[in-house]
Amino acid sequence: MKIAVYSSKPYEKPFLDAAKADTAHELVYLDARLSTMTAELARAVPAVSIFVGDDASAPVLRALHAGGTRLLALRSAGFNHVDVAEAERLGITVARVPAYSPYAVAEHAVGLMLTLNRKFHRAYARVREQNFALDGLLGFDMHGKTAGVIGTGKIGEAVCAILRGFGCRVLAFDPLKNPACEAMGIEYVPLGDLYAASDIVTLHCPLTHATKHLINAAALAAMKPGVMLINTSRGAVVDTRALIAALKRGHVGSVGLDVYEEEGDLFFKDLSAEVIQDDVFVRLLTFPNVLVTAHQGFFTREACEAIARTTIDNVSGFGRAGAAGVPESHRVSTRLLK
Ligand code: NAI
Repeated sequence: MKIAVYSSKPYEKPFLDAAKADTAHELVYLDARLSTMTAELARAVPAVSIFVGDDASAPVLRALHAGGTRLLALRSAGFNHVDVAEAERLGITVARVPAYSPYAVAEHAVGLMLTLNRKFHRAYARVREQNFALDGLLGFDMHGKTAGVIGTGKIGEAVCAILRGFGCRVLAFDPLKNPACEAMGIEYVPLGDLYAASDIVTLHCPLTHATKHLINAAALAAMKPGVMLINTSRGAVVDTRALIAALKRGHVGSVGLDVYEEEGDLFFKDLSAEVIQDDVFVRLLTFPNVLVTAHQGFFTREACEAIARTTIDNVSGFGRAGAAGVPESHRVSTRLLK
C-alpha cells in the first residue's frame, strides 16, 4: 500500500524503512506538516501517516477523504490532533500506536525532575566556564518527598515505579485505578488532596475535554508553595498563562515541560534564526526555573523502533482486512473520547 508520511524527519526514516522492509508498502516521505494546504499531496494515496504536530481537523480529513485516503496511521499514542468524530463520519479508519515504550516518556519526566532539582543544566554551563561555585545549585533529596502522579496508565505506572525506587511517597489521581500501582503502595487520593500534599506534580493523563486546562489558576493555587510541576502529557492540560502568573508570584517553584499548548508552530523545527512570535512561550523561556524540551519524551531508539513497527503493522492489517485488520486496541474511535 502507498503511504504518505507527513512531517517525516531524517531520524525516523531508518526505523520506518526497516519496519517496512518485508512488506510491499511504498513510503512517500513528506517534510510538510499535514494541513488544508498540504492535504493535496496525498491525492490518490490510500494511507496517510501523521505525527503529533500535524493537523487532522475536519476540513483536512474531508480533503484527504476526497483525495481517496481511507486510513490515517498515527505515529503516536495521543490522538487529540485528530477530529475523530469527523473521521468516523467519513469512514476513515484511524489507527494509533497505543503503547511503545512507556519507559521513554517516564524516564524523560524523571530526568526533568532531577535536572530542575539538581540544576544539571546550569552546572554544565558553569563548569565549562571554569566556574566551580555552588551558589544557586542547592537541591533537595527526592527520598522522602511526596510526588503526585495524575494519570496512572502505562507511562504513569512507569513513573510511579521509578519514584518509589527513589523512596518517594507517591499519591495518584486517575478515574481508573491501576492495580499494578496499588500493588506498589501508591495511594489514590482526590485531586485536591494530591495538590495539597505533593512536592512534585507530574502529568500523565491524555488531553480530553475533561483534562483541558486541568492545571488552571485554581489548581495551581491549591498546590504547595514551591511545587515542581512536570508536564510530558499534552500542552493544553496546563493553562500556560495561569502557570506564568503562578511562576511570577513565586508560588510554583519549578516547571519542566516537554509539551506546550501551541507547540504545533514551534516544535520539531530549527527556528534558531527566526523571531518567535509566540510571546507566551518566549516568556516561559525567560524563567530560570523553567526547563522546556521540545516533545522529545518519546525519543529513544526502542520507542522509535516500536512506533515504526506498529505503524507499518497497522497499515498491513488495514491492507488485508480494512478496519477489522487493525487491532481493536489500536483503533481510535469516539468511544475513546468518553
Ligand atoms: P494510557 O492510556 O496508558 O494512560 C492514560 C491514563 O490517564 C489512564 O489510566 C486514564 O484512566 C487516565 N486518565 C484519563 N482521564 C484522566 C483524568 N481526567 N485525570 C486523571 N487521569 C486520567 O496512556 P499513556 O501511554 O500512559 O500516555 C499518557 C499520555 O502521555 C498520552 O495521552 C500522551 O498525551 C502523552 N505522551 C507523551 C509523549 C511525549 O513524547 N511527551 C509520548 C507518548 C505519550
